[in-house]
Amino acid sequence: MHLLKLGPDDAETLSAMAIETFHAWAHLYPDDVFRSYLDESFSVEATRSNLESPEYEAYFFMDTVPGAADGGARPIGYCQMRWHRGQTVQGPAPCVEIERFYLLKEFQGQGAGRYFLNATIELLLAKGARTMWLKVWDQNEKALALYRSKGFR
Ligand SMILES: CC(C)(COP(=O)(O)OP(=O)(O)OC[C@H]1O[C@@H](n2cnc3c(N)ncnc32)[C@H](O)[C@@H]1OP(=O)(O)O)[C@@H](O)C(=O)NCCC(=O)NCCS
Repeated sequence: MHLLKLGPDDAETLSAMAIETFHAWAHLYPDDVFRSYLDESFSVEATRSNLESPEYEAYFFMDTVPGAADGGARPIGYCQMRWHRGQTVQGPAPCVEIERFYLLKEFQGQGAGRYFLNATIELLLAKGARTMWLKVWDQNEKALALYRSKGFR
């Protein structure tokens, strides 16, 4: 399992992954609000614009396909980070926000979230991050437990 850095040419596949995983929250919004949020934030154009920006980084969570002749790997989730130049939360710069962290539904609850969060944190530390932050819905118990266990408060 490894992280695969994405570039502007990956906008279409990342947009599809982002839309699929964001459906976890569809029940929380009126249908039209949900649709327009998807169009605004997860379209191929919006995704490409993020991937072209030096502020953003996105990675696929790659999992090995059992039995694949070529040792192939497939994306089972993704994360998107945003580096902030200015002060956004208390803590020393460089400061990075883990904006999105999602696994496809069928791969949740099997340890992959913890594995890839560890890998993401290690990568950000290696890139010089001194403060990391994220936002999470206060009823998302699963994510809260995972983030708290890694020291997020
Ligand atoms: C949140 C998410 C990334 C966690 O990844 P995961 O692979 O499902 O979680 P893991 O199996 O690695 O478990 C990691 C920790 O999560 C917590 N957790 C997992 N399943 C849980 C459940 N059903 N109830 C409560 N906590 C749970 C536990 O603290 C667990 O720790 P453990 O390793 O001691 O068991 C993943 O479920 C997901 O993508 N959910 C939908 C999107 C989302 O909520 N993203 C985060 C907010 S942006």
